[in-house]
Amino acid sequence: MNLPYAEPYKTKMVEYIRPSTIQERKRWIKEADYNLFNLSSDKVFIDLLTDSGTGAMSDKQWAEMMVGDESYAGSQSYLKLKETVKRITGFEHFLPTHQGRAAENVLFSVLVHKCDIVPGNSHFDTTKGHIEFRKASVVDCTIDEAFDTTTYHPFKGNVCLNKLEDVLSRNTKDRIPFVIVTITCNSAGGQPVSMENIKVVSGLCKKYKIPLLIDAARFAENAYFIKTREAGYENKSIKTIVKEFFSYTDGMTMSAKKDGLVNMGGFIALNNEDVYKKATVYNIMFEGFKTYGGLNGRDMGALAVGLDEATEFDYLHSRIKQVAFLGEQLVEYGVPVQQPFGGHAIFLDANKFVPNIPRDEYRAQALAIQLYIIGGIRGVEIGTILADRDPFTHKNRYPELELVRLAVPRRTYSLNHMRYVAAVIKAIYDTRSKAKRGYRIIDEAPIMRHFTVKLEKIKQEAVTI
Ligand code: F0G
Repeated sequence: MNLPYAEPYKTKMVEYIRPSTIQERKRWIKEADYNLFNLSSDKVFIDLLTDSGTGAMSDKQWAEMMVGDESYAGSQSYLKLKETVKRITGFEHFLPTHQGRAAENVLFSVLVHKCDIVPGNSHFDTTKGHIEFRKASVVDCTIDEAFDTTTYHPFKGNVCLNKLEDVLSRNTKDRIPFVIVTITCNSAGGQPVSMENIKVVSGLCKKYKIPLLIDAARFAENAYFIKTREAGYENKSIKTIVKEFFSYTDGMTMSAKKDGLVNMGGFIALNNEDVYKKATVYNIMFEGFKTYGGLNGRDMGALAVGLDEATEFDYLHSRIKQVAFLGEQLVEYGVPVQQPFGGHAIFLDANKFVPNIPRDEYRAQALAIQLYIIGGIRGVEIGTILADRDPFTHKNRYPELELVRLAVPRRTYSLNHMRYVAAVIKAIYDTRSKAKRGYRIIDEAPIMRHFTVKLEKIKQEAVTI
């Protein structure tokens, strides 16, 4: 019998969210310098800015919070988490950190040096930031299919082997500290990486004697896609798939705010003892002692439970289906979105949605602002503002895609909220021909400018969008 899916949980507590008017929101976004990060959350109706740390914890996770062990050294919650990480990932060594970028900071302090090159699949911005901050650079080796939002490819996060081999063969081994593969690939639209791809990438890395690391923020969602799209995995459990995937690699950095199902947390897990020892020193310097790394004992306990819950099929099925529901509604309305849908988010293709807004007027940002004004929905620009300037020429680097990401927090919004979001976007899409001008930057930070950038609206004859 083909029954519809339903969430494998029910609501125990609710949090009220306040609707507002278009007039109010026009004022608020101007006061926020047209940067959605500057809005206070009470001015947002549906918050799809990120799926990071914004989900709901389960009653079992909250119960674990109550028995958290806050000992400075050797906390029982740490031991619980350490055991869970080993069981789920298979890696020997583990260091907690306060979030994903902290894991990057600690590990890259050991591994990345000036003039190094780090190949990968569309590195996330903090990953790229931590590499470039060390005067090293990244090379994007994502497959070309990832940059066409309309072609179907089941694993658009895959690494292109030719591109990777090109980088590996042209550079000496000591210039490439590691290859990093992000699962799912956030910057390419929440797209998964296949088991077959990681196996071959692993083989290539071994051939050139270069370690392979995983940016594992959404590793469980990636495993769901392997189970549902890749031949041979349909009957394997998520936990088995996860273990096999990591077995082809040497280590991982993790933002536990995604597939750890917690509001704050991260960790490093790896096999190389020497790197672990060196990273421990940086962890103690930057994060805290090696048995808490910037986390409360209770947070580590909740994370241990979260990792187990996130790697259960029923949870993942309802999660991914909810995101796909939003995508399907938009496709039905003819709205250009990245396909297939990402695991954690739907990405609007601003190049197709508002092609009349010049690229140097930040068309994806203009679209994100309009979503907020019309519906109180907060998404985020994944386009030229995020891509930032070239570290050497200081000029804008225009990425192939201009996207607005609508990231869906885990276990938080209902299908009805998704229906509302789709209806707002449809209303904007129906009037898109009026959109001709965008925004100009009036203030930007030297690195990771999107968080603090200030913009002003470029005057136009007609109304924006
Ligand atoms: N790697 C990936 C793939 C991410 O998506 C993120 C964060 C990080 C690393 C950094 O982790 O935030 O815990 O320090 N992504 C968030 C997002 C911010 O909205 O996609 P963090």
